[in-house]
Formats: sequence, C-alpha cells, structure tokens
Amino acid sequence: MPKPFHLTEVPHLIDAVERKQRFGHDGAVIWLTGLSASGKSTLAMGLEGRLLALGYACYTLDGDNLRHGLNADLGFSPKDRAENIRRVGEVAALFADAGLICITAFISPYRSDREAARVAARRVGFHEIHVAADLATCEARDPKGLYRRARAGELPDFTGISAPYEEPLAPDLAVNTASESMDESLAKLVEYVTRRLPHRRLQPAST
Ligand code: ADX
Repeated sequence: MPKPFHLTEVPHLIDAVERKQRFGHDGAVIWLTGLSASGKSTLAMGLEGRLLALGYACYTLDGDNLRHGLNADLGFSPKDRAENIRRVGEVAALFADAGLICITAFISPYRSDREAARVAARRVGFHEIHVAADLATCEARDPKGLYRRARAGELPDFTGISAPYEEPLAPDLAVNTASESMDESLAKLVEYVTRRLPHRRLQPAST
C-alpha cells in the first residue's frame, strides 16, 4: 500500500501510561485464529464475558459480524481475506491503543496476513491464539451447514476444503476444542490473559 503523503501525525494529549491508569491494565490484541467451526467466536465471547466480569475493558471483533458492516464489500479470495485482516488488524490495534483488550475471532488463514496484524499492533501487545480443532471435527460440527455446501461445490474458496489454512508455527497459546471441552479451553484463555495482562484493581471473580 503506498504511503500517504502531505499528512502529519497528530499527537494525543494523554499516553499509554495514563490510559493504563484509567482501565487498570494494558491494552492488547488477543488474536484468535482457526478453522470455521473451531470455536473461535464461542471462546472470544466467553473470554469477553469473563474479562468484563473481572473488571477489564474489552471488546470482541468477530468475522461474521464485521462482514455485515465494515467488511461487507469483501469476499473470500486471498486478496479479499488479506484486506479483511488488514482492516481488522488496524482496528484492533486502535482499540488496544485506546486501552482496551481487543479480542478478534477471524479464520485469518494466511500467515502473512496474521504477521501484518502483529506489525499493526506493534506498539501494543499482540497475542496469537491458535484455536486448533482438526478439520474432521469442524466438518462434523458444521453448525451453519457451510462445509456440506462447500463439499457439494456450492461454496468456492472454502477454508479447509478448497482454500488453505496455514497453521501458526509458534502461537503464543494453543487451545484444542476437539480434545478438550469448551470450558477447559476458555479457562486456559482466561488464565493466559489474566497472567499476561494483570488487572491492578481486580474484581472478585463471579463467573
Ligand atoms: S477470513 O478468512 O477472512 O478471516 P472470516 O473469519 O472473516 O474469514 O469469516 C469467516 C466466516 O465466513 C465463517 O465463519 C463462515 O461463516 C463464513 N464463510 C462464508 N464463506 C466462506 C468461505 N469460503 N471460507 C470460509 N468461511 C466462509
């Protein structure tokens, strides 16, 4: 993408330290990646609920949701997926810069796109979480009937069937919703986030 010119960055009047004081924790991007039906959205919303109950400020960006609005103009070609992830990576970094923990749930099948999202969030923390359920398990779940339609040739470029999924080589955390229960995976995620991003005024856990 060409660099915009004739533009000057405008500095904010408060910095990350002051934002951290307001929220009680660092802002960060928690990036969930995995196949369709691997459990990304369930885990993301579960994590959001648990963190909010603990007093964290957080918000989830979900693939199916954003494709109804900000990314409604994009399909599933490699180029469109790259643009989808580029926009989400930039938005997530802004949320994190604002002081929130931004959880994202996108297939994000290409390593290069996820790496670009990590670069976009370089001034805040970026944590890559692999939601690693194998294809057979995801296809057996098939909650939206999309795998069946992809096998029937009705959905082109379907991840895992007719489009690739490049597994993370060194994720910050991997959870496997095929070999462990959703509750176990969620507990691992909550433990990871609360340890890496401790809250200075932690509320007693109620959920
Ligand atoms: S990504 O690959 O660009 O990161 P994203 O997470 O935004 O994908 O959207 C994935 C969702 O779109 C899936 O959960 C599924 O409901 C839907 N979908 C529709 N067509 C496809 C397709 N060809 N491949 C993958 N997901 C698809």
